[in-house]
Amino acid sequence: MTREKPKNLWLSRWGFILAATGSAVGLGNIWKFPYITGEYGGGAFVLMYLACILAIGIPVMMTEIALGRRGRGSPLDAVARVAREGGAHPLWRGVGLMAMVAGFMILCFYVVAASWAFAYTWKMLDGSLAATSVEALGGVFEAHNANPWQLGGWSLLVALLTLFIVAKGVQKGIERSVSWMMPGLAVMLLILVGYAYSSGSFSAGVDFLFTFDASKITGEALLAALGHAFFTLSLASGAILIYGSYLPDGQSVARTTFVVAIADTLVALLAGLAIFPIIFANGLSPSAGPGLIFMSLPLAFQQMPFGTFFGVLFFAMVSIAALTSAISLVEATVAYLNEKHGISRAKAATGAGVVLLLISLLAMLSFNVMAGWTPGGKNLFDWLDYLTSRWMMPLGGIGMVILAGYCLRSEVMRDELNLPPLGYALWLFMVRYVSPVLIGIVFLHALGWLGFDPIAKWYWIAGAIGVLAVAGELLAPRVRQELARG
Ligand code: PHE
Repeated sequence: MTREKPKNLWLSRWGFILAATGSAVGLGNIWKFPYITGEYGGGAFVLMYLACILAIGIPVMMTEIALGRRGRGSPLDAVARVAREGGAHPLWRGVGLMAMVAGFMILCFYVVAASWAFAYTWKMLDGSLAATSVEALGGVFEAHNANPWQLGGWSLLVALLTLFIVAKGVQKGIERSVSWMMPGLAVMLLILVGYAYSSGSFSAGVDFLFTFDASKITGEALLAALGHAFFTLSLASGAILIYGSYLPDGQSVARTTFVVAIADTLVALLAGLAIFPIIFANGLSPSAGPGLIFMSLPLAFQQMPFGTFFGVLFFAMVSIAALTSAISLVEATVAYLNEKHGISRAKAATGAGVVLLLISLLAMLSFNVMAGWTPGGKNLFDWLDYLTSRWMMPLGGIGMVILAGYCLRSEVMRDELNLPPLGYALWLFMVRYVSPVLIGIVFLHALGWLGFDPIAKWYWIAGAIGVLAVAGELLAPRVRQELARG
């Protein structure tokens, strides 16, 4: 069957890597990773997060890029095409649809969180962060959120910037903007880490991030690590899939995946190395929660030489990181409207923008006017975060690996991944057994259906994967065939 011709392709070899790294590196790395690491106690959490990236994140990302490039289209259409080509049931397109919906839902609260970074860049300059205690700075943060006009105005700015870039197109908008924003981000981060290194408490930061304390390993922490691995790599939300659909045929899926995953992980660790020494040097607590960078860091910036400069640099860096992620969250929807309904990119971006503003307005209002409306104990902002990170992304991830590992005719993925036999066998083993079993166990645990803490009984998990793998390969000896071929 003839393959779909790509309508857009990255211009340069670095196009995909910069854009996908731009998508992956965002609030997740600089805002969420440090505070959840702080909450779950440091090194043990970092280790679980790294394990989830390796065992689940990388195989899922490879699968997602390959599905996007094979299907050449919006997540819904790409998955539908690949399913058709590979002889899988047409309902598999639901996985693509869910990813698109999840991406849009993330976008609706992401612009609000991104707007904090933009607002704080400005607040560093206009003197509104002069308060001298963490409590008082907490008050500043709350007052900012309590004012719907402030929060709304900054969120509108983020949404307009995002839509403007996306409307300009894949090459002239997205590729061009990430090609200067990403190097800029790297320079800013290195300056900040350099400062932290010279600040005297660097080793306290290193100890906190890398000292392993087995008692801190719990099922709850594992759950958080898994959700975060999906979120930070932008998986199962349409972003990586749509960017993958613009990847030229000759580029290696595996190699690009490794570059993006390593860059994302490095940025998270470097952000931790920039932030924790500053926190410790100023006697602040690492477990301050979501407000960590907004309530603790401004206090530290006040006390350091050239603090305003470093403060502006820091929040500008977070703003850019958030913007390149927000862009990737709209692209799938814009590409879908453009491809399926023939709407121009500019009009599609406008339409998506209207819906985005309506929903994110509600997310914004949940901090002030509608603060009392918390069905099920969560406001709308928290619901959007919870539903996507804890449920939709892992579900979408399991869907993709099962589709690719079991349901497609094997030539499709083998062709698209184009790996040496051992590499292919390893990928197949991961997507068939390791990733789905691990995601499944974390799910069952979250639902309270597992009567034990999966981490404490890890040998059961390893055993289950082993038995499944042996049984599975005896029934369907594809991996052995692959090995024999090599
Ligand atoms: N990966 C981004 C971050 O870490 C968030 C994101 C999730 C972006 C899903 C796109 C898709 O902030």
